[in-house]
Amino acid sequence: MNKESADPARDYTAGLARVAPFADYVAVNVSSPNTPGLRAWQAGDALHRLLAALTDTHARLDRAPPIMLKLAPEIDDESLEALSEAIEGAPIAGLILTNTTTTRPPGLVSRQRGEEGGLSGPPLAPRALEVVRRAYALSGGRLSLVGVGGIDSAEAAYARIRAGASLIQLYTALVYRGPRLVGEITQGLARLLAADGFASISDAVGADHRASAARGHEATAISSAMARAAASGSGACVIGRPTTSAVAPARAASAGVATRA
Ligand SMILES: Cc1cc2nc3c(=O)[nH]c(=O)nc-3n(C[C@H](O)[C@H](O)[C@H](O)COP(=O)(O)O)c2cc1C
Repeated sequence: MNKESADPARDYTAGLARVAPFADYVAVNVSSPNTPGLRAWQAGDALHRLLAALTDTHARLDRAPPIMLKLAPEIDDESLEALSEAIEGAPIAGLILTNTTTTRPPGLVSRQRGEEGGLSGPPLAPRALEVVRRAYALSGGRLSLVGVGGIDSAEAAYARIRAGASLIQLYTALVYRGPRLVGEITQGLARLLAADGFASISDAVGADHRASAARGHEATAISSAMARAAASGSGACVIGRPTTSAVAPARAASAGVATRA
């Protein structure tokens, strides 16, 4: 989008139409911190106008690549939820999470920490990870999520995958560590996946959500068993050492997820 555009939605659609014949996917960036007002397009009327314009243009393309919306790490839960609903029916294949942050997380030591602009790299990682986790939960795993922001190791990439990302992007770490980092990450990922019993990255996408759902089922089964034990006065239920048949299946289910997780 051009900073002084009279019709910003048209800038996006003109860009989409121009690159569509050549692109594998198109990122619609509504989150650069350097274009005043750009982040307003992540929500409300502006978002709906943009989605309508993209839908119209995308439908007319001879070759229509998937569109990914790129969001800011500052997006709050409410806006993310509204956006997840708004994009249903629009040709949005997924979300790129996230752009740089305008906040200055505690612990920055650089003399430049007070400068204006977007901050990338490791200080951004915790929030970018959290936004992936939230978006995966909101979309029930239906959207493709691209994890980006402070990824600099196999462990960081794997955490993003387990939180729900099916693709990973590296920017700042490539500047500091060079292209060898890509090999380090892919080899490290193979090791981490094998250690958790996954056959492929796809199997690990969103694994944290399945593991916590299994823990939730287990907790529910344990508290039901405790309630039953209390009601019967038998006192036969011990947390962590299930003695009732009601708890045992929940444990087995959770162990099954854990070997996949
Ligand atoms: C110098 C620089 C320029 C960037 N330019 C763009 C851009 O033009 N469009 C965009 O969507 N993101 C841009 N980004 C954001 C990155 O694509 C990425 O979302 C962000 O840096 C977080 O990833 P990282 O911590 O691996 O760098 C830029 C980041 C940096 C550091």
